[in-house]
Amino acid sequence: MTKDKGQRTNDKRQITNDQGQTKTERQVKFEVGGAFYNSGSRLGRDLAVLAARVQRDRVGQLRILDTMTGCGVRPLRYLAESKADWIWANEGNPDILPLINRNLADAIASGQVQITCKDANRVLVDCYNRRDYYDLVDIDCFGSPAPFLHTGLMAVRIGGLLYLTSTDGRTATGHRPEGGLGVYGALPRSHPAAHEQGLRLLLGSLQQQAAMQDLGIQPVFSLFSGEIYRVMVRVVRKKQLSSTNYGFLGYCHACGEYRTINWRKLGKASCAYDDKPLTLSGPMSLGALHDRATLEKMRAIAQTWQWWDCVEILEIMQAEAELPPYFYLLGEIGKRGKMDIPARDRLMKSLQDRGYLATPTHIHPEAIKTNADLHTCIDLARQL
Ligand SMILES: C[S@@+](CC[C@H](N)C(=O)[O-])C[C@H]1O[C@@H](n2cnc3c(N)ncnc32)[C@H](O)[C@@H]1O
Ligand SMILES: [Zn+2]
Repeated sequence: MTKDKGQRTNDKRQITNDQGQTKTERQVKFEVGGAFYNSGSRLGRDLAVLAARVQRDRVGQLRILDTMTGCGVRPLRYLAESKADWIWANEGNPDILPLINRNLADAIASGQVQITCKDANRVLVDCYNRRDYYDLVDIDCFGSPAPFLHTGLMAVRIGGLLYLTSTDGRTATGHRPEGGLGVYGALPRSHPAAHEQGLRLLLGSLQQQAAMQDLGIQPVFSLFSGEIYRVMVRVVRKKQLSSTNYGFLGYCHACGEYRTINWRKLGKASCAYDDKPLTLSGPMSLGALHDRATLEKMRAIAQTWQWWDCVEILEIMQAEAELPPYFYLLGEIGKRGKMDIPARDRLMKSLQDRGYLATPTHIHPEAIKTNADLHTCIDLARQL
C-alpha cells in the first residue's frame, strides 16, 4: 500500500454517516468504521454494477479503477456482481486504510485488488503516463467532479466507461449561477426542470472536455437520486460535440414553456408562445440522457437477479432517454391552468392518444416528459 504525502484531500468536507457496524449491501458484507458510506446511494452502485457487468460481457474483461473507494464497498460489489477481473482501489484518507484492507482482505489475498492512498488526480495522471487504461474508472467525489473530468477521461480505454458523481446541487440548479462558470463553463439558471439540468451540465462539460482530447463521450445512463447527480458515459474515439447536441435551454417565466436554443440562434431566444424573452441556461448537453440498448441489457440482468427497483427505474430511463431536455411538473400544469393537479397516468394517456410521446421521468415522481408543449398539456389536463 502506498501513501501520497502531498495529497490535497480535504478531510473537513468528509461527512460520515451509516458508520460503525457490519453492513450488507446486495451480495456483499463490509464494515464502515470511520469511512463515508451512504446506504441511500445503493441505487447508484447497483446501476454501476449492472453497467460494468454489461461491459464485461461486451469486451470479455473488466479492469476497474475506483479512485475514491471509501470503505471499499464498490470493489467488493464489482468483484462479486460484475465479475471484475482486477480492481485498483484508491482512497485519499489514510485513516481508513486499515478498514479498507480488512474489508478487501480476501480480494487482496487472491491478487484481484491493489490498494493505494493518493490524491485521485495523481492516480489518474499516473495511469495515463504509463498507458494503463481501464474498462471502468469510477470517481465518486464530494461536491463537483470538475477537477477530475479531464484526468478521468485520460485513464479510460477507448470504448471504456467513466462514472462520475456530483453533489453540487446548488450550482447545478441555478442557485449559484456565477459558480457554474468555474465548474461547467456555463451559467445555470433556476427553473422547474433544474435537476435534469444538473445531469446535462455534467454531460455537456464532459463532452466538451472529451472534444479537447479529440475524443467523444456517449451517455450510458444519467441518474438523479437522493439529491446526487451521477453520469456513466462511454469514451469513444469519434468526437461527438456539436452545436446541436451542446447548447442552451430557454425557459419562459411568463408562461412556463421551454425551448432549446442553438448557439447560432442565441439572438432570437424568445418564447414561441408569447414572444417574451427567455431565461437561458447553458451550454449543456441537449442529446440523449441514456443509451437505450445498454439499458435494455442492464434491465435483463437486473430481472434475472430480481433487483426489482432497478428494473423499474431502468424501464423509466429507457422511455425518457431521447425525449426533450426538460420535464413539466404536474403541480405547474395545475397552477398555470388554474385547476387541480392532473393525474399523471391519465394526462400521459391523453397525450399519447393524440400522437405525442409522454412518459414519467426518473428525476421527479410528480412530472412528465413529453414532446408536447406546456400549453397542450394544460389544455388536455382541463379535459380530463
Ligand atoms: C463519497 S465518498 C466515497 C464513497 C464510496 N465510493 C462508496 O460508494 O461508499 C468519497 C471518498 O473519497 C475520498 N476523497 C476525497 N477527495 C479525494 C481525492 N482528491 N483523492 C482521493 N480520495 C479522495 C474521501 O476520503 C472519501 O472516502
Ligand atoms: Zn412564454
